[in-house]
Formats: sequence, structure tokens, C-alpha cells
Amino acid sequence: MAEGPIRRLDAEDDLAACLDLAQDRSWSREEDKWRLLFDIGAVYGLDDREHGGLAGTVVSTPYGKVVSAISMVLVARRHERRGLGGRLMRHALEERETVSACLTATEYGRVLYERLGFRAVGQCTSYTGELSELTEPRIETLPLTPADIADVVELDTDVFGAPRDELYRRLPSFCEDFRVVRDGAGRLAGFGGAWSNGDHLLAGPVIARDASTAIGLVETLLHTTRPVRLDVDDRHPFLGEWARKRGLTASFGTTLMEYGEPLETDPSRMFVPVMQALG
Ligand SMILES: CC(C)(COP(=O)(O)OP(=O)(O)OC[C@H]1O[C@@H](n2cnc3c(N)ncnc32)[C@H](O)[C@@H]1OP(=O)(O)O)[C@@H](O)C(=O)NCCC(=O)NCCS
Repeated sequence: MAEGPIRRLDAEDDLAACLDLAQDRSWSREEDKWRLLFDIGAVYGLDDREHGGLAGTVVSTPYGKVVSAISMVLVARRHERRGLGGRLMRHALEERETVSACLTATEYGRVLYERLGFRAVGQCTSYTGELSELTEPRIETLPLTPADIADVVELDTDVFGAPRDELYRRLPSFCEDFRVVRDGAGRLAGFGGAWSNGDHLLAGPVIARDASTAIGLVETLLHTTRPVRLDVDDRHPFLGEWARKRGLTASFGTTLMEYGEPLETDPSRMFVPVMQALG
């Protein structure tokens, strides 16, 4: 075989090859995102023995024993359609110690995941561009402080349905901005982050108890003249309307998929994922 056994990768030795592989598939070289994934998940890869570098990757990020978020399913163009994607996915599923798995599928991956037993549970549309108008955010938000973390994790666990403490320990330094909203009684009404993938400033996560808090967070987090991206779960069409009204374009669609036990995520309070790779 031109490719070796699947092995666990580490950031120090393998990050550069992961970025090269992503670029081969016309994905951005998202170094900070890969570092985050290396920190909190298991990154697996196949060496390309013939050409050097990596023939394929997959990342599995576990949230307790509940669900693993699968991401960065990449196979080098020259190895496409020879079963490597399936092999990497089966490995990630076998190695996981959680009852479920979830992912956000591109059109390339969807059929492959369906064959492995994943079910489509929703659709997502990614809006990109520069905002044509910057309106003053309609709500007051506060920068995250260490004293907020426990409340943030509690709300996230309640809404997402799995413990993501480790992710939230790492997110404040990963995000460029992270904000919370508190109500008159001091209770956490919502929170959100913004991070850069090199090309765009993305909003995510946005978790809130109602739509007006969510839109206020998005307006605050994306209050910029830089290119932005907003991944809109089609269950929240008002976010897509907000994006279109401000000149953003629907640039691609993805499918939210689950495997194993159904997740107990509450879509009514889950407005924007942390990122597609992490749910
Ligand atoms: C998706 C991907 C990982 C599949 O890898 P692979 O090694 O070709 O996958 P396998 O050989 O195990 O399975 C092949 C299946 O993938 C899909 N697929 C692979 N290449 C495709 C292409 N160029 N166009 C459409 N579908 C494609 C098809 O369903 C195909 O099944 P088929 O050959 O019976 O039609 C690879 O195409 C890739 O890296 N794509 C770019 C990045 C991406 O979109 N990743 C998925 C993220 S969710």
C-alpha cells in the first residue's frame, strides 16, 4: 500500500503536513484551529509513503462519554476514491469512547457518512462577505471574565447536552473576543465568541436563551469591517435574514449529522456552533 497504518498525530511533528493536506483540498491553512484540535482531541493520519506528507486525516474530539465531534476528514486529491476516507472514519468511530458521534458534512463527505450509518439531522448555510452596514448592537454585552466560566460551561452543557469543560478552558485564549450577557438579576442570558480562520472573522459559539439575545451577540461579535463568516443553522432562518440584509452571501451549505444515540442538544438555544469542527 502507498499509505501506511493509521497513526495518532501530534502537533509538533505533524501540524505542517496537516496544513499542506488542507491546502491540497483548497481548505485554508488554519493553524490556530488545528492547534486547538490537537489540544483537545485525537488527530489521526495516514502517511503518504510514496509522495511524503499525509495521505489523509481525521480528528475526533470527545465530550465526556457522550459524543465525539468528528472533523478534518481530508484525503489528498491524488488518493481520492480509493477508500481512505472510509478507512479513516471507521478508525475514528472504533477508537471513540462515547456513545454518539456528530459532524458537519460537506457535499463530498455526506454519502460516505451515510454509508457508515450517520443520519442527517439539519442543514447549515455559511454566509460570508463584508457587512454593508454596521448597526449599533441592540444589547449590552460584557467581556468574559474568569468568574463567568462556570456559568458559561453550565449553560453550554445544558444546551449542547454534553460536557465541554476542556473546550471552554481553551476557548477564551483561542477566540479574539468572548462576551457574556447577564439579565437584571445577574443570571447568564447568553454568551458568544468570535475567532479568525485567517480569511474571515467567524462568530461562534452563540448560545442564548432567546433570539434577540442571540442576534445582539452576533451584531457585537461581528462589528467589524473585516470579512466575516456566519454559519447559520437553517432552524434559525432569522439569522440568515440578518446576514442577507447586511450584504453577506450564502456561499456554501453543509449537513449536520449524528451517529449512535441521538444527541440531546436544544436547538432553540443553540444559535451558532463553536465551529463546524466542534459542534
Ligand atoms: C470526503 C473525502 C474525505 C472522501 O475521501 P475518499 O478517500 O475519496 O473516500 P472513500 O474512497 O472512502 O469514499 C468515496 C466516497 O466519497 C465521496 N467522494 C469522494 N470524492 C468525491 C468527489 N470528487 N465528488 C463527489 N463525491 C466524492 C463519494 O461519495 C465516494 O463514493 P463513490 O466513490 O462510491 O461515489 C475527500 O473527498 C475529501 O478530502 N474531500 C475534501 C474535503 C472534504 O470535503 N471533507 C469532508 C469534510 S465533512
